[in-house]
Amino acid sequence: MRSTSHPLSKVEALKRDAAREALRRVRSGMRLGLGTGSTMAHFVDLLGESLSQGRLSDVVGMPTSERTRAQATELGIPLEPLHAIQPLDLAVDGADEVDLKLDLVKGLGGAFLREKIVVQAARRFVVIVDESKSVDRLGRQAPLPVEVVPFSWEAHLEPLRALGLDPVLRKDEEEEPYRTDNGNYVLHLNPSADGFPDPAALDRQLHSRAGIVETGFLLGLADEVIFAGPEGIRTVERSR
Ligand code: 5RP
Repeated sequence: MRSTSHPLSKVEALKRDAAREALRRVRSGMRLGLGTGSTMAHFVDLLGESLSQGRLSDVVGMPTSERTRAQATELGIPLEPLHAIQPLDLAVDGADEVDLKLDLVKGLGGAFLREKIVVQAARRFVVIVDESKSVDRLGRQAPLPVEVVPFSWEAHLEPLRALGLDPVLRKDEEEEPYRTDNGNYVLHLNPSADGFPDPAALDRQLHSRAGIVETGFLLGLADEVIFAGPEGIRTVERSR
């Protein structure tokens, strides 16, 4: 992951730019929520570098996935369970889509349930993305992941289709059902030209079904989004 080991592709360089900008919000002594994904991997890498070089100290993190936990542990970033350090000063995470209201679709990394638990324990939530994640309407570009308990997961398919959705079971590299860190399955609701006209209403409908544990919608939660593009960094703050 370190920039010195391999030259970064253009998109990876943008993700790292966004991560570097987010690191400017981190102060010594902060308690941090550490999200999941390739953009977050840059943030964790840069955080580890700042701690090892003494630019930051006494930072404690709460990882949102086993993947982020492993990376943070390897870099010597101190970690604590959420209940021991909440409220967090800041949660940082990536996203798959960001709309004009700073509502998000997350979860292609499969960690969205834990990510939402961590975000709700944070005083501030900063999102880091490259400009390709910016959309005018959610649901046009990336699938919406929905975490379901494995028991009778197939029973969700018809009711979801009846809502005009296109659910597909996420598979892993062996073509087996992908399992989240919580042992659950994930249905991907495929994107469409119409997107989701009313994400909040759809989120409520999905949550009303027993067996659906969580969705990849993060609505009204992001305080700031850092977009990295070829022209540089653009930041957008939620007006509250
Ligand atoms: C993981 C996530 C990720 O933050 C999201 O998928 C973005 O990932 P990447 O930075 O690799 O594009 O929600 O559950």
